[in-house]
Amino acid sequence: MNQVEVLAHPNVALIKYWGKRDETEKIPASPSLSITLGGLETRTSVSKSGDDTIFIDGQSVSDQKISQWLDRLRREYDIPQLMIESSNNFPKNCGFASSSSGFAALAVAIDELCGLNLDFASLARITRLGSASAVRSLLSGYVAMNPDDQRCVPVQIVPPDYWNLRVVAAVTSTEPKLTSSTGGMAQTVATSPFYQNWVVQTEDDFERCSEAIQNRDFNTLAELSEANCYRMHALMMTTLPPLRYWRAGTMSAIDTIERLRHDGVPVFFTSDAGPQIKAICEPEAIATVKDALDDTDGVLFTLESDIGNAPTISAR
Ligand code: PMV
Repeated sequence: MNQVEVLAHPNVALIKYWGKRDETEKIPASPSLSITLGGLETRTSVSKSGDDTIFIDGQSVSDQKISQWLDRLRREYDIPQLMIESSNNFPKNCGFASSSSGFAALAVAIDELCGLNLDFASLARITRLGSASAVRSLLSGYVAMNPDDQRCVPVQIVPPDYWNLRVVAAVTSTEPKLTSSTGGMAQTVATSPFYQNWVVQTEDDFERCSEAIQNRDFNTLAELSEANCYRMHALMMTTLPPLRYWRAGTMSAIDTIERLRHDGVPVFFTSDAGPQIKAICEPEAIATVKDALDDTDGVLFTLESDIGNAPTISAR
């Protein structure tokens, strides 16, 4: 086989992980739970080549994270030098979770191109060695990743059509973030006095959130997801040196979502290691949520998504 192209979607965690228990195997300290974002796409094509060459969104890049990951995989698997071309229909490296779809797509493509024939647990492991959050992008719908459950093999809680929620992503900055999630969370583990408390609380949030999804209980899901998101950002701010990913536009977008909910619109927010906000809503509210966020000062643009599918091989 000369070339493989894979289409994968990023995911956003409603219950987040921030901190690893094993840095070598990249095992998170706590369970997490996400939705796969069908409207956002990464297309990655991989072919054998004389040298490792990486193009992202049309530009030749030297991506340390990808290069170090390939070096590590080559210690265990027979993987030749590769030409990698990846493109996203959303901004990258600014807290938008492009590494999740990026590594999920790459892992699936390399497995196929190199004929590795990995079982799902091994595919999840090589994906995790690139980016732990990317493991959740290997499945569709509502997805759990639990370090105590077969060392992080992801599990689907329910498929996309079980609960047709929608997402409006509000982009407030496309500047690259100053501290990567990998570096940031290691700083938190080493320095925040609240870290252990976060791990214990997240385990509880995770159980309750899985239940809320199974019951399609919007209000409980909203309450738990926002509380978990606030706790993660508060934890980040208690790190030394402090990590603050939110900007003025982020706060304005949160104000908008709070006001909408106060007015009875079924919507809540979450936000990862960056200034972007993702508003999750019932399908009938999507136009109201999008219009309100588009009218918010500091929001540059919005992107819509539904709950998405697992990676697919789009060309061979
Ligand atoms: O695994 P990473 O390095 O992509 O870190 C992900 C961290 C968060 O996005 C903030 C939380 C999460 O669970 O996705």
